[in-house]
Amino acid sequence: MKPTCAVIPAGGKGTRLYPLTYAVPKELLPLGPVPTIQHVVEELVTAGIDDIIVVTGAGKRAVEDHLDELARRGETPARFAYVSQKQQMGLGDAVNAAAGAVGDRAFVVALGDGIIAAPTQASLLLRMLAMYEREDARAVVAAQQVPQADIPRYGVFAPGENCRDGFSVVDLIEKPPIERAPSNMAVCARYVFHPTIFDYLARQAPGTGGEIQLTDAIAAMARDGGGVYACPLAPDECRLDVGNLKSYYDAIGRMLGGGARP
Ligand code: G1P
Repeated sequence: MKPTCAVIPAGGKGTRLYPLTYAVPKELLPLGPVPTIQHVVEELVTAGIDDIIVVTGAGKRAVEDHLDELARRGETPARFAYVSQKQQMGLGDAVNAAAGAVGDRAFVVALGDGIIAAPTQASLLLRMLAMYEREDARAVVAAQQVPQADIPRYGVFAPGENCRDGFSVVDLIEKPPIERAPSNMAVCARYVFHPTIFDYLARQAPGTGGEIQLTDAIAAMARDGGGVYACPLAPDECRLDVGNLKSYYDAIGRMLGGGARP
């Protein structure tokens, strides 16, 4: 089942960037000449996906205005639909809010506050889509190696067997303390899913931070019959994240340094 649509979760309040994001959604913070979310849309379109469902929330109207203007001006072939996340109940809840719009289709999830910088646009996503088909997977999740001290900020993989371009996943833990981390390979902002992920999300209990964690639903899927794979970033790919002030300024620095436009 080939993925034909994507979900961009963009409902978060951006509290780690206050006061910058009191009125400006973090997805609209500039990275080079365009807002962050526009890079994400361009990456998806390059990967062949132009049916895009954006999960928004309170105070995110400007995200819709920006994307609708892009489409109106013919600056993107993407078609946008919006669903709203009623409460901030976590990333799993945000993805689940798109269940009706996605329906029975395989789909991509691309976090709206991070871009994958690479010499060839969408190289990571294209590898993930190929892996999804080749392995007949139920989920393919992007992975990045992180320094030990940063492990508690991420979802972390328990790796299984190696496969072409990555490894199978036996378990995942969301934001573990360093001593409980099964590896230093972290979940990295891009996912490809079979629609059965919605069954797991629908029955997922709150986890870390009292939120419905996407990581926990993927872990349940991995433990329950497998079919979950990880696709690590290549050495010339990196994730630029606008989620907090330091990583946002690092991302701007990479952009100004040249060569980072995904
Ligand atoms: C989310 C996910 C986490 C992942 C991270 C980066 O965390 O819950 O598993 O590692 O994105 O992709 P957040 O940064 O929203 O706290």
